[in-house]
Amino acid sequence: MCDTWGVTLDLDPGLGSAGNPRLVRAIVDEMNGGAIPFERFMELALYHPKYGYYRKPGRVGPDGDFLTSPAIHPMFGWAIGGWLRWTWQQLGEPTTFTVIEPGAGEGLLAASILDWAEGRDDNFREALRYVAIEPNAPGRDSRVEWRDSPPDAVEAGAVVTNELFDAFPVRIFDAGERGPIEVFVRWDGERFVEAPGGVASIDGAPESGRFEVNQRAYPAMRDLCGLVERGAVLVFDYGYPQEDLWAPWRTTGTLLCFYRHTAHENPYIHVGDQDITTHVNFTDLAFAAQASGFDVHGPVSQSAFLWAAGLGEVVEAARAEMAEYFSRRRALERLTDSAGLGRVRVLAATRGFAAGTPPGFGES
Ligand SMILES: C[S@@+](CC[C@H](N)C(=O)[O-])C[C@H]1O[C@@H](n2cnc3c(N)ncnc32)[C@H](O)[C@@H]1O
Repeated sequence: MCDTWGVTLDLDPGLGSAGNPRLVRAIVDEMNGGAIPFERFMELALYHPKYGYYRKPGRVGPDGDFLTSPAIHPMFGWAIGGWLRWTWQQLGEPTTFTVIEPGAGEGLLAASILDWAEGRDDNFREALRYVAIEPNAPGRDSRVEWRDSPPDAVEAGAVVTNELFDAFPVRIFDAGERGPIEVFVRWDGERFVEAPGGVASIDGAPESGRFEVNQRAYPAMRDLCGLVERGAVLVFDYGYPQEDLWAPWRTTGTLLCFYRHTAHENPYIHVGDQDITTHVNFTDLAFAAQASGFDVHGPVSQSAFLWAAGLGEVVEAARAEMAEYFSRRRALERLTDSAGLGRVRVLAATRGFAAGTPPGFGES
């Protein structure tokens, strides 16, 4: 309460103190006085049909909340363009080669891959059909076929994702003597608070501490593998193999929130105005690809992948033009920073051609 003007004003922001008031109201209404699993809370926070975080454009980039590799510099896309052209060549240079990018955001990666193809290889560009699947705030590049759901499977092509799986809603568990107890969320009248749910049985789960289960990742990876009969699936994401993700020393899980380029661990503030992300279980992704009949390569670090792809040479090639040279050099430092984007992991899955080890996957 405040009475500095001689009248008493109630300045408590109510639902607004937890984030976007309309979204908070929608979540509290769905809770209906009870608790919902954290996974549902995260789904509503990020993907509520009207007020979810990802429904609005401008989330990725200097004016948004966080940076992804395509937003650092187009050279990230040039490296992937070269990798895709190699795949096209291994397939015998089919007349149509479809690249499908789920979670394409506003299309920065698509643009840099298409620009690279246009500048480098007319035959490859001629064959290239680019399909972006983005159900939330899609881009506008007219060279791209924008869809909000997957296309039919293609005969020859590749699926490319950057930071898709780490944006999926996850279940959270607190492991203790009784086993893993699922985290639920309720509204206590002023804020969102956690509440214990039921005990679960999860193979290989940690015996103590907090951990997440991204149970949508495996079926999604299987679906993505089903989109290309011959070709590749190339995944860039923050994550670890399961033994690292669920290592006994990792007692607080991997959940992180991003709000105006500040990282923190509280998903119950700025609800609808901040990103929520967790590290991906790469063992799940590899199993899903293998179960779909793909050979799996990696995961390797993004840093190793980009150096092996030849981005060092791309920087050196600009030496004659100092501004461009420093821009590329700074970008490569950021894309390969071992404390930042360089930690992103890259997994490739290939099917329908005998290529051996794809470029970038020679060492981990
Ligand atoms: C962290 S952002 C990454 C955006 C972009 N790939 C980049 O690197 O800047 C995650 C994106 O995945 C999208 N997304 C989430 N679930 C999806 C799904 N099931 N299918 C397609 N896109 C999805 C979100 O709308 C969001 O644009």
